[in-house]
Amino acid sequence: MFHFISSAQLTRQNVLEIIYRARELKEEKPAQFNKTIIHMFYEPSTRTFCSFQAAAIKLGCSVINLTAKDSSIQKGESFEDTIKTLNYYGDVIVLRHSTKEALKKAAQISKIPIINAGNGNDEHPTQALLDIFTIYTELQSFGIDLESADREIITITFLGDLKNSRTIHSLVHLLVLFPKLKFIYIGLPALEMPKDVIERIHFEQLDNLTLNEVISITDVLYVTRIQTERIEKIKKENIQFDKNEFCIDENIMNKAKKKMIVMHPLPRLREISTEIDNDPRAVYFKQLKYGIYIRMAILEKIFNSK
Ligand code: NCD
Repeated sequence: MFHFISSAQLTRQNVLEIIYRARELKEEKPAQFNKTIIHMFYEPSTRTFCSFQAAAIKLGCSVINLTAKDSSIQKGESFEDTIKTLNYYGDVIVLRHSTKEALKKAAQISKIPIINAGNGNDEHPTQALLDIFTIYTELQSFGIDLESADREIITITFLGDLKNSRTIHSLVHLLVLFPKLKFIYIGLPALEMPKDVIERIHFEQLDNLTLNEVISITDVLYVTRIQTERIEKIKKENIQFDKNEFCIDENIMNKAKKKMIVMHPLPRLREISTEIDNDPRAVYFKQLKYGIYIRMAILEKIFNSK
């Protein structure tokens, strides 16, 4: 792997290697790499930005951080020239951008590896890996082996802005590599799962009203926020957001299995009530910890394959 743009680049073996390595990194002191990682972010970020830095620092790397608003992009410099320039300063570029095409273009131009840290509403492959690491590890704590074809079916339910959630789009590429998973999505009007994602995976689609019923059969509930910044103004006026209101609260959790998990890539808005934060089934803050080890494992893989 040189550039890491889409989780579709990974085989099941690749995913498992990264999961096993992340698990080791949780326990052992990592090898140190004398590398420089450039974080170039054209969109806001808290978790991806900080966790890549935490991972880089733990691997003994130095970091350069640049945001579009502090760079010569403000003076009108082109995307191409920005990427060419960054090539002179570091060994890897971690890039977040608001468009799908930018990452592909960067990969064509750059002579150093590009890692996709989220490109518009397309993909977020490093988040997908930390999500599958979370699912793998949390299910294991219930005695369930994600790899095994010889176990009960696991039901994974997606809820929220399925149209714009790049984390879900990337995660389904990885989930289809594992046996005996059943997928449900609860679509919201105008924010439905893109066709190309639906074609990749067999889903059962249910509407918002059925959340109460679905919750009782769900093993992994993956919730996302409504990404208002990606919804065109004209459409925003047509979407009745009150119809899209949903909230995972104690009432919903009382109907859920005892052994299940609630995930969210964060930031959360109103879709998950803070009243469930201390419920052991709520793992959205644990995902942050898993993310550091996964990003260390990804960086190591990229350094070692150069
Ligand atoms: C997500 C993202 O940026 O795609 N957050 C993340 O990276 N952890 C989700 C979101 O913005 O809603």
